[in-house]
Amino acid sequence: MSDVIGYDRVGEIAVLTVRNPPVNALSQAVRQGLWDRMDQAEADADVRAIMIVGEGRAFFAGADIKEFGKPLKEPFLPDLIHRIEASPLVVVAAMHGVSLGGGLEVALGCHYRIAVPQARVGLPEVHLGLIPGAGGTQRLPRLTGVEPALEVMTTGRHVGAAEALSLGILDAVEEGDPREIGLAFVQRLLAEGAPRRPVSEMALPQPIDWDYAFDATLARGRGQISPAWCVRAVQAAYGGSFAQGMQAERKMFMDLMETDQRQGMIHAFFSERAVSNLPELKGVAPRDIQHLAVIGGGTMGAGIATAALLAGLRVHLLEMSAEAGAAARGRIEANLAGALKRGKITAEAHGAMLEQALRVLTDYTDLSEVDLVIEAVFEDMDVKKQVFAQLDAVCKPGCVLASNTSYLDIDVIAATTSRPADVLGLHFFSPAHVMKLLEVVVGEQTAPDVAATGFALGKRLGKISVRAGVCDGFIGNRILATYRTCADHMVLDGASPYDIDAALEAFGFAMGPFAVADLAGLDIGWAVRKRKRAEGQAPTRDATYADRLCEDGHFGQKTGKGYYDYAAGARAPVPNPEVMPMIEADRARLGITPRRFDADEIVRRYMAAMVNEAAKVVGEGIARRPLDVDMTLLFGYGFPRYRGGPLKWADMVGLEGLLDDIRGYAVEDAVFWAAAPLLEQLVADGRCFDDLNKES
Ligand code: 3HC
Ligand code: NAI
Repeated sequence: MSDVIGYDRVGEIAVLTVRNPPVNALSQAVRQGLWDRMDQAEADADVRAIMIVGEGRAFFAGADIKEFGKPLKEPFLPDLIHRIEASPLVVVAAMHGVSLGGGLEVALGCHYRIAVPQARVGLPEVHLGLIPGAGGTQRLPRLTGVEPALEVMTTGRHVGAAEALSLGILDAVEEGDPREIGLAFVQRLLAEGAPRRPVSEMALPQPIDWDYAFDATLARGRGQISPAWCVRAVQAAYGGSFAQGMQAERKMFMDLMETDQRQGMIHAFFSERAVSNLPELKGVAPRDIQHLAVIGGGTMGAGIATAALLAGLRVHLLEMSAEAGAAARGRIEANLAGALKRGKITAEAHGAMLEQALRVLTDYTDLSEVDLVIEAVFEDMDVKKQVFAQLDAVCKPGCVLASNTSYLDIDVIAATTSRPADVLGLHFFSPAHVMKLLEVVVGEQTAPDVAATGFALGKRLGKISVRAGVCDGFIGNRILATYRTCADHMVLDGASPYDIDAALEAFGFAMGPFAVADLAGLDIGWAVRKRKRAEGQAPTRDATYADRLCEDGHFGQKTGKGYYDYAAGARAPVPNPEVMPMIEADRARLGITPRRFDADEIVRRYMAAMVNEAAKVVGEGIARRPLDVDMTLLFGYGFPRYRGGPLKWADMVGLEGLLDDIRGYAVEDAVFWAAAPLLEQLVADGRCFDDLNKES
């Protein structure tokens, strides 16, 4: 018999120990092993109880996600769990680490559950575009009641042991080694003569208003369907026998398995983990970072400093003057106060961060001992060059010099120093202590260990780090500039910003592009456009309505008005009435007769522009793999996770049709819609973007 499930006897107890590192996923071998060991225990006349315990980091992390999308192999998990529950012996789960998805479902199939206090349980299937598919929707409500069960499975959150005990998911929580506390618990049960206690035989709790719960959950899902399907699966428990409920759950699970949403979310799950795993950095040791400096404590500098303080680093923040330094400290204090309020840090840690770990200064010579510097001053090449010259003069050899520039050329910045190999871009997103994305911009001369240091810092700060090459806007802002231009063209041709925002929000974006622009500040794009025009790079169809808004002092949310009006006290922003006349003036200037765009066409064009530019970014090596683009858009630009990212989405809708669309649009504007060579190549070869992910 395989060693994946160990078997030993302690008195009358058979102990089944799961050994499938790293997280005890319920692979076919684990399922078969558990089945066989159950048989073995039941065949042993001296055994009165069975205990299942995990070795390593977890009880079980759930079904083996790598098996999804392939034909499922027997024994199927619901059958195994039924087999465990139907055992004539008392079966107990002794839980530690995580028990997630199928892992919790195995525990629910046991007759009793004990866990250590650090254990966490949950049914996170919705994050994979699924519902629990091995009895979770049928058994959990019987223990907790319907509403708590639905809350747990529709959010997919991890529930701590203490809460799980109070919800009735666990029977006991005890400090100690999981095997030892488990054995003591089973011995107590045997001594008391405790009976088998199958959850499936427990009474169903009070039903709820299913349609109301379904509609409310569907609305919260912003287009994602699986949370709402959890409601229907729990409802199915009330339609007949337990077995019928199980069948209904399984059918929904298998139906969801066939959806694009499931594919998109599983792509996101694995890509999130693969993104900072770069072959070129294998075995490259990062430099040690203890002391970090931030130059400029404005919006970004203060956010970056906050993120570093929260990660336990010592931060030296340099500003232009004592007053600017005090303002920067104020911003960091406000950020940390938010973290304290949300219970992310203790009052003691908050005090220590501000009083001991943070130093605000104005003199560069104080930076001679820092290990890494992140520059976040104004977006102006001359200012950046001055800052890097000063850093070059004072920083110790080996200090990593990073810029948070959004668009400027890292190679030009590096060339102003005597140590270009130590220079890279670390492009954070606003607010930097909240947003998960970090672009690690690797310049022409950046040393591998400097790039590795960027990734190591990202990990320490809890970021999703993506490698980007040097170009205007790197991965994310470059693609944004293109799809944003596409939106501007649609506005010139007849769509309103509000039609566009509504269509893209319905597609699943957290916010439409015009609402996002208001949030980020319209002045940022204005500065970029002015720079590009000065450099002679004005687009072929230059929309100027956004400039008019800025000239009138409307920078979006921070000034109270942009595309929308954010009047104080208003519950939701309303369209700013000044905008449409500005747009109409632009149309008249350009001699355009506006036409109608429906939501479908808006999404098709916008996505075609995004995918085409993304294909150029991959083709030019700015992003190493399609998945790097997908994760950039997911974690920095509000792209709906259940669609996997723009290139995964493109694969699913079909590259050929997308290329046809692009070629059709190119008839109107051959420059803007020039098809990406990589996209043409993939279509010609009958391949897709994900094939490139697999090759890397
Ligand atoms: N199946 C296969 N591989 C898994 C896995 C799973 N369920 N869970 C984690 N892994 C892999 C990861 O891909 C990673 O592999 P890598 O080292 O090759 O990149 C490795 O295990 C370690 O994972 P993490 O890097 O994520 O480690 P963490 O310690 O940060 O997190 C975790 C561990 C909390 C278990 C996290 O991995 C996680 O949330 N996993 C997914 C859990 C889940 O969604 N379970 C439900 C599955 S669906 C299901 O059970 C259906 C059922 O109802 C029928
Ligand atoms: P900001 O204007 O809020 O802050 C800039 C700060 O730098 C100011 O506090 C200023 O006093 C300080 N400063 C200017 N010159 C200095 C010098 N020589 N020495 C020390 N301090 C100096 O600007 P913001 O928005 O924080 O942007 C900073 C950088 O981050 C820019 O390069 C920007 O492109 C980039 N960025 C901005 C994002 C955003 O959403 N705001 C997102 C990602 C990057």
